[in-house]
Amino acid sequence: MDVVIVEDQEALGGTAASLVVEGLRADPRLVLGVATGSSPVTTYRALLAAHREGLDFSQVHCVALDEYVGIPASDPASYHSFVRREIAVPLDLRPENVLVPDGNAPDPTEACAAFEDAVRGLGGVGIQLLGIGRNGHVGFNEPGSPFGSRTRIARLSPTTRADNARFFPRPEDVPTHCLTQGLGTILDAARIVLVASGSHKARAIAAAVEGPVTEACPASVLQLHPDATVIVDRDAASELHRISRRHASLGGDWLD
Ligand code: GLP
Repeated sequence: MDVVIVEDQEALGGTAASLVVEGLRADPRLVLGVATGSSPVTTYRALLAAHREGLDFSQVHCVALDEYVGIPASDPASYHSFVRREIAVPLDLRPENVLVPDGNAPDPTEACAAFEDAVRGLGGVGIQLLGIGRNGHVGFNEPGSPFGSRTRIARLSPTTRADNARFFPRPEDVPTHCLTQGLGTILDAARIVLVASGSHKARAIAAAVEGPVTEACPASVLQLHPDATVIVDRDAASELHRISRRHASLGGDWLD
């Protein structure tokens, strides 16, 4: 696992976007796994800047990590809406190249299997962008999620519902369930780039990067991935203590 520490959220977005741009230059048909939430927004903005300078996303496939169960895809808080608003429309992706789990499917289990089939049909994810929850969740894989899990229906923890209440009119409007790629699904990506900013993420980042690999911190499983990069700003890095020079590969700034 490489850890890159940058000054702030803008630098974080620029650094993460540069890895995506590199991937896209190597393969114009890149399958890009995308995360929702605040953390990757500066990354998407930096990708938009690259697109405005001529980078072509027309052959890119975009695969989302998760979706709430039971809110319409047209609801601004849905992840269908997020992906459309923050990624697909600004980058001029073809609508048919955007894949988000169907949180309104009459049979969620079938929808999860169809989602897994579709990702496999694309040849798997080339670069997966991730955020991280305060409790170490990735996608919506809450603490205790099995490392081998696949796309499935899952229950949101009280912490995650409280954290995501800011996107809904009232806290009780936050859905209780979601469809999420499993940790096993996420680990199938060829390359993983996790971004985190702010001191409220420092504990989760320390546990993910320096703690034991344990289902109590789902993101810690990324330590087992052969090509995972964690990009954090100084605040999110503030509880890291064992950063080694091995991690200096991308020109970040190191604590030791
Ligand atoms: C949600 C998403 C995650 C995301 C997390 C953190 O729970 N399902 O994919 O990483 O929020 O969000 P934020 O970056 O806003 O803190």
